[in-house]
Amino acid sequence: MNRRNFLYPFSFSAAAAILVGCEKESDKNTKFDKKSNETQKMAQEPQKNVINDKFEPFTQELKIPKEIDFEHIAKAKFNAQKSSTVLYKEKKTDVLTFQGDLPNPTIRIKNGDDFELDFTNSLEKPTIIHWHGLLVPETMDGHPKDAIAANMTKEYRYRVNQRAGTFWYHTHPHGRTGEEIYYGLAGLYIIEDEDEKRLNLPSGEFELPLIIQDRRFDKEGNLIYKEAQQDNIGVLGNVIMVNSTPHPYKNVKNTKYRLRILNGSSARTYKLAFEGIEEFMLIGTDGGLLEEPIVVKDILVAVAERIDIIVDFKDKKVGDSITLKTLGFKEASIFVPNTAYPGFDSKMDIMKFKVTELSAQNQLQIPKKLSTIAKMKASDASKSRVITMEIIEGGVWTLNKKPYDMHRVDERVKLGSTEIWEIKNSVHMAHPFHIHGVHFQVLDRTSKINFPTDKGWKDTVLVMPNETVRIIVKFTIPGLFLHHCHILEHEDHSMMANFLVE
Ligand code: C2O
Ligand code: CU
Ligand code: CU
Repeated sequence: MNRRNFLYPFSFSAAAAILVGCEKESDKNTKFDKKSNETQKMAQEPQKNVINDKFEPFTQELKIPKEIDFEHIAKAKFNAQKSSTVLYKEKKTDVLTFQGDLPNPTIRIKNGDDFELDFTNSLEKPTIIHWHGLLVPETMDGHPKDAIAANMTKEYRYRVNQRAGTFWYHTHPHGRTGEEIYYGLAGLYIIEDEDEKRLNLPSGEFELPLIIQDRRFDKEGNLIYKEAQQDNIGVLGNVIMVNSTPHPYKNVKNTKYRLRILNGSSARTYKLAFEGIEEFMLIGTDGGLLEEPIVVKDILVAVAERIDIIVDFKDKKVGDSITLKTLGFKEASIFVPNTAYPGFDSKMDIMKFKVTELSAQNQLQIPKKLSTIAKMKASDASKSRVITMEIIEGGVWTLNKKPYDMHRVDERVKLGSTEIWEIKNSVHMAHPFHIHGVHFQVLDRTSKINFPTDKGWKDTVLVMPNETVRIIVKFTIPGLFLHHCHILEHEDHSMMANFLVE
């Protein structure tokens, strides 16, 4: 593939064709001819799109990541490496890991404690770890400009200084973040604090991390990343993994569980709901707990967003099972991605909870008041700026019409200032907008869709097609940071920009 094709993943006319829903375009790409014919056939079988036939859903038990708890250790070691693991039947699949297996460990640390980790890059190309949602100095953030070469080690040292919440880590090399996360280089990062402890939320076996990622496998059980030009719209898979377990089950007791959910997918937005449970409680967002729980029937989670929810199995009997599913989100896009795989609008089962035991502790109450969030007002801002989401000639995804340049400063921000950022989406596709090194609040949005997560602290916000979302953000850390769309194929090519806080 020549450089031009690499940088400009689909031609402008192809983009226009996609706009009107042309599905044949991929067939013209001879390189993928064989596969497209095959996948075309699959796509024609109506609704038989949920699971690759090699998978027997709900037969594998949910894997729970082991924890690296900084209460017990002073320093951790990560080594980005090629590994293989069982994801698919008995066969081993080639993946990328930080410690030799998937899922990668969950980091658990208390606010105020020192984080120390030595990161070695045992891959062939430069890479770097980014701590998504952490408020850390520029040199610790993991900007692609700071990627380390093969066989080099970077020492991460910082003191955690933010309230409790569910965050994550992933590599962030220039142009290859999508691929590296796809093959495995991501994990959860949990911060605890005293305020949260006092609430006595479900913990231990009643607190489950769920990293949701859709993936594609070939007949041999290998992961496949991009196959066709439409994959530049976003890679969607037909197999949903939770903690690197395809369509797992989890045995539970009939009581309340706290689920810390991360959408670690490439492009898919999930509209999560439970079959067998009417309502559940949203208690936290990207930046930690809400002020009060919000009862919902379903909830949208875009790529990179986290939700903290309480689901109660108290009305269930031993033998009952409850399915976590996505209802599909047709509003996400009018673009037609690779038709071989379930689209943005597809309903899919994700995992099953099987009630296998009664619980003695099903009276546990969730407090009505969870935390205090100082509400920011538009009048707190000293400046407002507009960031546009656009597709430019050559079919390139951009912010403000400028393809990403790792060394260009796109926005200059005064240290300590508060600003309103107006994120204007002029494309017929929803984009999750993320900012490094800050937490922000959503002031308002122009679409009618209800996002209960807008009530909490955020670092990523979904901007609907042709929508404008206004966020308010205070910049407290000096240095060069990123803002970008978190659909991985968009951020890589090249819907990303740099802002300098000085
Ligand atoms: Cu998950 Cu640049 O971030
Ligand atoms: Cu980030
Ligand atoms: Cu995007």
